[in-house]
Order: sequence, then C-alpha cells, then structure tokens
Amino acid sequence: MGAHVPVLLERCLELLAPALATPGAVHVDATLGLGGHAEAVLAAHPDATLVGLDRDPQALRLAQARLARFAGRTHLVHAVYDELPEVLQGLGIAAVQGALFDLGVSSMQLDEVARGFAYAQDAPLDMRMDQSRGRTAEEVVNTYSAADLARILRVYGEERFASRIAAAIVRERAKAPLTSSERLAELVRDAIPAPARRTGGHPAKRTFQALRIEVNGELEALERALPAALDSLAVGGRIVVLAYHSLEDRLVKRALTARAKPAGPVDLPVELPGSGPTLRLLTRGAEQASAREVAANPRATSVRLRAAERIDRAGGRAGPAGAERPGRKPRPPRRPKAMHQPGALTANQRPGSRNGRSSSAQGGEPSARQPDQLRKG
Ligand SMILES: C[S@@+](CC[C@H](N)C(=O)[O-])C[C@H]1O[C@@H](n2cnc3c(N)ncnc32)[C@H](O)[C@@H]1O
Repeated sequence: MGAHVPVLLERCLELLAPALATPGAVHVDATLGLGGHAEAVLAAHPDATLVGLDRDPQALRLAQARLARFAGRTHLVHAVYDELPEVLQGLGIAAVQGALFDLGVSSMQLDEVARGFAYAQDAPLDMRMDQSRGRTAEEVVNTYSAADLARILRVYGEERFASRIAAAIVRERAKAPLTSSERLAELVRDAIPAPARRTGGHPAKRTFQALRIEVNGELEALERALPAALDSLAVGGRIVVLAYHSLEDRLVKRALTARAKPAGPVDLPVELPGSGPTLRLLTRGAEQASAREVAANPRATSVRLRAAERIDRAGGRAGPAGAERPGRKPRPPRRPKAMHQPGALTANQRPGSRNGRSSSAQGGEPSARQPDQLRKG
C-alpha cells in the first residue's frame, strides 16, 4: 500500500479545503479505493467526518486498516456510488460539504492478476469490481451477440475495429468458450490490421476498457451518481471529479456545466428569481497532471480533473462565473450564513450520533450495506 500514490492529491486538497473548513464538515469519498485521498483529507481537516463508499469489499477492508486512526470519524460503506442518497439518509446526513470521485479501477485491482482487469497477464475473465455479484467479462464475451459486442467495443472502448474484433470473438467462442484474458488479448491483436497494432498502446487495451465498463455498468452508475452528489452538496460545498477517459469526462463536464448555467429562458436580459445557476465551476475546462506527476505516477497520465462549488440559486449571478486556477487564492464562497453554522447539521443529524452510535467508531467491519437492499426499484 506504501507504493500507492493518490492522483492530483495536492490539487484535490486545495480545491476541497474552503468547503471542509466548515465546522463539523462532512466529506464523501465516493470511490474510497485504498483510502489515499481520504487519509489526506482526514489528516488536513481534524474536525471533518468522512463517508467513504466503495463497491469493492476488498478495497474497503484495506482502506479501513489505513484509516484506522480516524475510525471515530469515518463511515465506510459497501455501496455503488449511485446509492449515495440512501447511504446519507441511513447515516442521518442531510447535506455534505465535500465530495470526491476518483473514477475507474484502483492500482490494487489492476495489480491483482486474479481479478482479470489486466490484459498483460493471464487470468480468468472476471473484471467485476464487486466479485460478490453481477455478470463477469467471461459471460459478456461468451453470450453477447456480435452486434452487442461491437457496440460495446465501439462506444465504451472507442475501438475503430470493433466489428472485426466482435466477429473474431464470436468465431473463436464457437470452437471453445473464451475463459482467459491472455487468449482474449491475443485474439484482439490478431483481429486488428498489422499497421494499426503498432499505434495507440497495447492492441487489447481498448477492448479490456470496454468490457470493464460494461461489466460494472460504470457509465450508467456515474450518470446517476453525479446529479445525486450535486444534490447532496450544502451551499458552499465542493465536488472534485477525476476522470480517466473521455467518456467519463464528457459525463462529468455535462453534469457540472448544466448546473453552472441559469435554468431560465436564455433570451431574457435578466435572470428570473430562483432560476440562477446552482454551481460555480472551479476549473476552467479539465485540468491535467503535470509532467512531473505523470513521471512519478503513470496512473496520472490520462487524468482530467473538474471541480465545482454549490451556490445559492436565489443569489445566482448573471453571466458565467470565473474559474479558479491552480495556485490562485480561492474566491470567498458565496453562501448564506446559516449553512456555515455548525448547527447546519443538527446533533441528531450528525454522522455517528444517530442512535448515539457510530458504525465505524466501534472499530467493526465497514458496514456491509447490500446494494440490492439500497437500490431503488
Ligand atoms: C481509482 S480508485 C480510488 C483510489 C482512491 N482515491 C485512493 O486514493 O486510494 C477507484 C475506486 O472506486 C471504486 N469504484 C469504482 N466505481 C465505483 C462505483 N460505481 N461505486 C463505488 N465504488 C466504485 C473502485 O472499486 C476503486 O476501489
């Protein structure tokens, strides 16, 4: 775990800091992973409470050990991040000050060969982030029609040779079911024209990304989770999202910019009361990691960071809000005073104070919240 370096850590802390300075602040880490970002947030904000979600029970166990010294102010929950509203409701939390999404798979998931995420080593075709439920990559490659496979590869993998690869999969699986990542990687390489194999990294990279996205329903979950997370932000609360491919980043951009614009008719010279934007963008476009960080941490290569602050719609401004640049002093957040007060979360709404107990303060296992129980019909 020592080798695990959280991506864009300093920038995430800088962006979240003004919101987490609120007394009794609650921070949601929607993708806890190995707890690297969460640990730094808890260390930087001794008064803040963490709600950490992950769909991978193994990640939760590792993060729990890493965050043991903060157990009195952490709630670690086994959940898919689109279940955030139910998780917060279960903890009696009405609104949060910080939210972080560090999307995709963790280095632990990639390094563990048996999970089948890596195309470079041979493993069973699994790719589920939560191995206790759901369809595996093996089921997808052996049961989907050629048309569905091609669609997934084209849309989720942005793969130019999607139809050729899908046809090769269907041909090969007719001889014997595809069960190993090595065989699939070879098959993909052979299906791609030789000149194209030499560009764009490993030829199977895009196919594996596409299968992983399909197996875990990643984009659907993100599309539901982002509005839910924005709805849960208190005024003055901040969200930071780290995306690693253009499909994710496009969803993030759309979700944030939609709320950074006035909601009323565009041709009115003034904003109607209550129709102003509810978000202020904190980044101009998407920020990337520096060359130095990429050299030290290859996982940062493709990262795109976007961040925003919840503002009060009633006080929405006319015209686009300015974005914060790295290193610049943040603008003072515009929020109504009441939301700054510690009492904004009342004693019995505060995490851990429900029924006078905190799940993790007792040092037990992360609450094994069953997504099935939480999931809406
Ligand atoms: C890139 S890692 C996070 C690393 C973390 N920020 C750290 O510093 O250790 C992403 C984590 O999010 C989890 N994850 C991915 N999609 C998820 C989802 N839809 N719901 C909950 N957890 C998810 C993965 O299981 C993985 O552990």
